[in-house]
Amino acid sequence: MFFEFTEEQLMIQQAARDFAISELKPGVIERDEHQKFPYEQIKKLGELGFMGMMVDPKYNGSGLDTISYVLAMEELSKIDASASVVVSVNNSLVCFGLEKYGSDFQKEKYLKPLASGEKIGAFCLSEPEAGSDATSQQTSAIDMGDYYLLNGTKNWITNGGNASTYLVIAQTNPAQRHKGINALIVEKGMAGFTIGPKENKLGIRASDTHSLMFTDVKVPKENRIGEEGFGFSFAMKTLDGGRIGIAAQALGIASGAYEMALQYSKERRTFGKPISSHQAIQFKLADMATEIEAARMLCLKAAWLKDKGLPYALASSMAKLFASQVAMKTTIEAVQIHGGYGFVKEFHVERLMRDAKITQIYEGTSEIQRIVIAREILK
Ligand code: CAA
Repeated sequence: MFFEFTEEQLMIQQAARDFAISELKPGVIERDEHQKFPYEQIKKLGELGFMGMMVDPKYNGSGLDTISYVLAMEELSKIDASASVVVSVNNSLVCFGLEKYGSDFQKEKYLKPLASGEKIGAFCLSEPEAGSDATSQQTSAIDMGDYYLLNGTKNWITNGGNASTYLVIAQTNPAQRHKGINALIVEKGMAGFTIGPKENKLGIRASDTHSLMFTDVKVPKENRIGEEGFGFSFAMKTLDGGRIGIAAQALGIASGAYEMALQYSKERRTFGKPISSHQAIQFKLADMATEIEAARMLCLKAAWLKDKGLPYALASSMAKLFASQVAMKTTIEAVQIHGGYGFVKEFHVERLMRDAKITQIYEGTSEIQRIVIAREILK
């Protein structure tokens, strides 16, 4: 075992920390309040190489490892989880899937501008009736010879409005259930593709979440990822890595709230001394620090396994399950430590508490993570 980061990993962590403080923190409250997409900030993150962190430089990526990605996701998420989910979806669910399973044509045309941050990607699996039960896809992609005719609706799609490239999972052969599903690359502007209104959300309010409607959209065959019927497997394999990104996001939300609570507890005085001198507060801080460290270890373990080319589905689900629970619990305690101040927007922790909730829902609910974990350990 070797618990030390490389110089490069530490440099990425510091760069993400600096960016979060100087570029994300100003305006984060206002963007949350007005549901304003962090467009300029994402553009800059692209220029710095954070939108295609693990992609090979020959496709405009930064060629970094998954550990660096976890470190960066934690730092960005401490300050702005709305911006970090854009980074996570683009990196893990879109760039990863295209680089690993896409054709040369798809990498050239779609991956390159996504990895450089010139364009933003979206991953479209969830439907009104198929969120957790992902094999029950109702969106259909009928094989018409040299194209697929795409019809259906996708729900709760992160980056839905600001993306240019959408990876859409759709059913081609219902008789074959999950083996009849395809993953298709759909471009914004294709005839018949419309974007629904933005969802008004509890948390990560500055990220844009939309439903998408497809009516007789003609998707060229060359836009199918992998072999016919590979779509469900594609989605599951991609989500295995995506869950590391969301686990790291949850970790960042938790550590951001903890750091604020720790600082506040040293400044705020009651009964003649800083509240950090009261054992009631110390116990909370001790639990927060311990659980955050455990969540960090799970995130790094999953990233390490992925970097080593070892199986990581179990580790990524464990990391996501645990880190999202820690995010929820820690942010609630951070608000409590802040007392009345914790309930007002200027103190940031109430936003982190709202943001934490989604980490227990997207990229597979906590219940789904338990299903994946139980299946793996009972194999
Ligand atoms: N890797 C590769 N293959 C996998 C896999 C994995 N991790 N998990 C399942 N499969 C394969 C199985 O091997 C099986 O294939 P075979 O029949 O060839 O053996 C096939 O997929 C079907 O598997 P199951 O029978 O296990 O399928 P299931 O219907 O019982 O459910 C599930 C599996 C794990 C519950 C799955 O449906 C799931 O993960 N659901 C949650 C989906 C999800 O995470 N949605 C989030 C949407 S994306 C999002 O949130 C993005 C965002 O906005 C941020």
